[in-house]
Amino acid sequence: MSPQPVRVALLGAGTVGAAVARRLDDRAQRYAAQLGRPLELVGVAVRDASRDRPGVDPSLLTTDAEALVDRADVVVEVMGGLEPARALIERAMRRGAHVVTANKQLIAQQGDELHALADECGVGLDYEAAVMAAVPVLAVVRESLAGDRITAISGIVNGSTNFVLDMVARRGVPFQDAVRQAGELGYLEADPTEDLEGLDAAAKIVILARTAWGRPVTLADVQRTGINGLTDEDFAHAAAAGQVIKLVASAWCSGSGEDCRVELAVRPVGLPQDDPLAQAREGANVLIIEAESAGRLRLHGAGAGGEETASAVLGDVLRAARRR
Ligand SMILES: NC(=O)c1ccc[n+]([C@@H]2O[C@H](COP(=O)([O-])OP(=O)(O)OC[C@H]3O[C@@H](n4cnc5c(N)ncnc54)[C@H](OP(=O)(O)O)[C@@H]3O)[C@@H](O)[C@H]2O)c1
Repeated sequence: MSPQPVRVALLGAGTVGAAVARRLDDRAQRYAAQLGRPLELVGVAVRDASRDRPGVDPSLLTTDAEALVDRADVVVEVMGGLEPARALIERAMRRGAHVVTANKQLIAQQGDELHALADECGVGLDYEAAVMAAVPVLAVVRESLAGDRITAISGIVNGSTNFVLDMVARRGVPFQDAVRQAGELGYLEADPTEDLEGLDAAAKIVILARTAWGRPVTLADVQRTGINGLTDEDFAHAAAAGQVIKLVASAWCSGSGEDCRVELAVRPVGLPQDDPLAQAREGANVLIIEAESAGRLRLHGAGAGGEETASAVLGDVLRAARRR
């Protein structure tokens, strides 16, 4: 008898979801060999099932996300937003399905409740893609450094604002023009507030801090200043001082041992030219982790993009499938 497939439901077929669907198809044999049984994509929930999505089998498209969730072993949420994503994730867990998501705002705002529900239901909840997409930062913080003591984390975790700041610093583009050009090139959302006000970076540093120190920190704990208040004079002053302005997200544990206090910040910082964070170009992401025994580690790579984000999502899907 051939082994039962692991049934995968995909919620969303946008930039990330479509890339996940294509890879589940073209890497099907390899994944089956790795798992000892196939991964079967049983459906893809979207808002508009009549639209063509290159590389995605149209017969898999559905607008009935709830019915799709009910027939899956692993549910992959890549629709974004808080609702109905949260309700669908809860439904999946209560029905015994493992959940993979790339939804940073949902995890930053309701991650503790969702983890509690996952524990109650005996299922997994994984979201490596939610922080720095392809760069495996959560696995390093949670697993590789589990035996160490992390003291601080800092980085450039929002590629869109880094693209804007890099255009100003290296190409001399006036700040407001750089924001406009980044929008035209698709680096910023139609509503760029989440990026420019530092909300996206804040969600990521909250998730990183929770993973590193297990404390129930929230978005309200982040001292947050975005880049939207910066002026061309600020950039001129920084350049005159030999500095580069970057939007830096940081988290540190002040005090010692288990009683240390977790502090979080997202703000524009003037960095010396040779600082590792100052060297992040265009949409790149960089994270520096400091740990007692490991010392200073630097992780660097693509923090966005369909294929890149799908890489992290698929790693979590394989981990979820192995749990079954
Ligand atoms: N894009 C990136 O580089 C990136 C990187 C890291 C993390 N993420 C995260 O990944 C998630 C997805 O991002 P994305 O860029 O792929 O978004 P997207 O391109 O806007 O795609 C969203 C998809 O979800 C579907 N959808 C939205 N609301 C729905 C609903 N109520 N019912 C059914 N389907 C619904 C949409 O359907 P229609 O196509 O029919 O509209 C679309 O297919 C987000 O949480 C995002 O923060 C993205």
